[in-house]
Amino acid sequence: MKISRSTRLYGLLGYPLKHTASPSMHNAAFEALGLDAVYLVFEVESNMLEDAVRGFRALGVRGFNVTIPYKERIIPLLNRLASSAEEVGAVNTVHIVEGLLIGYNTDLEGFITPLKELNLKLQELRAVIIGAGGAAKACIRALINEKCRAITLVNRSKERALNLAQQYKYPNLKVIALSENNLKEALNQADLVVNATPVGMYPNVDESIIPKHLLRSDMIVYDLVYRPVHTQLIKDAIDVGATTILGYKMLLEQAAQSFRIWTGFEPPRKIMLEALKRELGVV
Ligand SMILES: NC(=O)c1ccc[n+]([C@@H]2O[C@H](COP(=O)([O-])OP(=O)(O)OC[C@H]3O[C@@H](n4cnc5c(N)ncnc54)[C@H](OP(=O)(O)O)[C@@H]3O)[C@@H](O)[C@H]2O)c1
Repeated sequence: MKISRSTRLYGLLGYPLKHTASPSMHNAAFEALGLDAVYLVFEVESNMLEDAVRGFRALGVRGFNVTIPYKERIIPLLNRLASSAEEVGAVNTVHIVEGLLIGYNTDLEGFITPLKELNLKLQELRAVIIGAGGAAKACIRALINEKCRAITLVNRSKERALNLAQQYKYPNLKVIALSENNLKEALNQADLVVNATPVGMYPNVDESIIPKHLLRSDMIVYDLVYRPVHTQLIKDAIDVGATTILGYKMLLEQAAQSFRIWTGFEPPRKIMLEALKRELGVV
């Protein structure tokens, strides 16, 4: 990689940032398109967030991704929100244009693109989303945008899920507390189930949020966890013959959308996917 006086700077803002696949994907994409740009990691502690964002503007950084725990805290520090960020209430991509910071949410598109690739009638879909954190927010908004027939939000803390559900005012959205019985009932009438919790994530790779006997071959099982690529939930879903969507697909799509926003170029998905797979240890 050649750094020049005009190299454009991009990066990832979050804390902590132990394992991230974003630099590999974006740097591979810059290289493939011959762009004089570099993507770095900015692990910024909470008390330095405002200083870091002011610094990005002052130094002429062109754009950055935002991850845990700053996707909501960043909002008051921005000049404008694109509709995607307003809809979700969280920002994962910032584009700096002539000193103005514009916030986007590409998780929305990132989540729905792999589902659209299955060529289903999304309006007919009955979905169960497990989890009510930041990732679930993008999933719910994306499914509401598609006028999905029914959404059941299942969460360990029912109160948190109820608070989240209130924001949408979607008549076909209901909330239940996480228990095996409740899950069984919800999954009985579901076509799609999304794991939007960290359960099953490395190093707890033997755990799954859904007991295997509740999975069926006519379901779509979408696990947002991408480390490991094949989680226990995905392995069980494959075993019962369900259709599966792996978490790295969403990761790739959200990165591709960020790339397009920043550069205006069509993202080189194949190159980005290869870089991501290398990073995740998939051969
Ligand atoms: N593939 C992608 O591109 C992508 C994008 C974003 C996130 N993700 C992944 O999605 C997962 C969730 O991320 P997030 O940002 O939404 O996290 P978050 O804001 O911390 O929310 C976590 C959610 O999981 C629930 N939860 C946590 N531990 C649990 C457990 N042991 N049993 C049952 N529920 C549990 C929490 O329930 P309570 O409310 O009861 O605490 C909460 O609803 C992470 O694994 C993340 O890596 C993937």
